[in-house]
Amino acid sequence: MSFAYTDGPSVLRDASFTVPAGTCVGIVGRTGSGKSTLTNLLVRLIDPTAGTIRLDGRDVRDYRLCDLRRQFAIMEQEPSLFSTTVAENIAYGRADATREEVEDAARRARAHDFIRELPDGYDSLVGERALTLSGGERQRICLARAFLKQAPILILDEPTSALDRDTESAITDAIEELMRGRTTFIIAHRLSTLRRADLILRVEDGQLQVERRGNLALALDMAKADQGAAASGGRVIDAAQWTQQHGKGGALRTSDTL
Ligand SMILES: Nc1ncnc2c1ncn2[C@@H]1O[C@H](COP(=O)(O)OP(=O)(O)OP(=O)(O)O)[C@@H](O)[C@H]1O
Ligand SMILES: [Mg+2]
Repeated sequence: MSFAYTDGPSVLRDASFTVPAGTCVGIVGRTGSGKSTLTNLLVRLIDPTAGTIRLDGRDVRDYRLCDLRRQFAIMEQEPSLFSTTVAENIAYGRADATREEVEDAARRARAHDFIRELPDGYDSLVGERALTLSGGERQRICLARAFLKQAPILILDEPTSALDRDTESAITDAIEELMRGRTTFIIAHRLSTLRRADLILRVEDGQLQVERRGNLALALDMAKADQGAAASGGRVIDAAQWTQQHGKGGALRTSDTL
């Protein structure tokens, strides 16, 4: 399929890929390359300009929108909350959830402790003109929402971008728990967030390149070995050396960004 915003240049051209159920797909690429656009196409926030997207063999346009979206739990890049209580924000998409279920989801998302410390706990009002939460707190509330929704497909758009290192590693563990048994699309700049990816899609100049995980796993092993020596975590692997060892196209930086 291909996609262009109205009056804009094409963001994706003749992109084609298949994701088996249960796969974890990492999506990488420079800012503005079209990563969020790609995931927005999956849930029909936008439709391809040409071509089709199929879910279980069926054109996504043939599903009722609510049925399609029920299959996805989404953590947006800049999560916004509704102007209501924390509990209702978590229960969005699962209106029948009990308070126990909401709290259990929050615990799994490592959000329970900070929520309990809010003035009215789970009943605190958030959103515009109410209590303001940090980006990381909002992300964790959205993560709790995803835990509660139990959808078979996950879309995580930079799920750890607003977190400091310590919180990030706790959330990364939570995300990995959430991903288990689900098909996941995860957009990330940090290699650590992608360590479970089976497949990496790189979006670049409108093209999609499929990079297999083999390279990535190897890069991570090398990074780990490096970390033993380098105190500040992560070192850039020399691209020329990498190419020499692993062939063309395998060059990866193993510092913070991909
Ligand atoms: N609603 C929109 N209308 C018009 N152009 C848009 C819209 N949303 C995104 N774009 C443009 O489409 C391109 C791809 O944007 P997208 O948000 O998918 O990039 P991204 O890879 O997610 O970037 P980032 O890493 O910064 O999140 C960019 O050039 C962006 O300016
Ligand atoms: Mg984006």
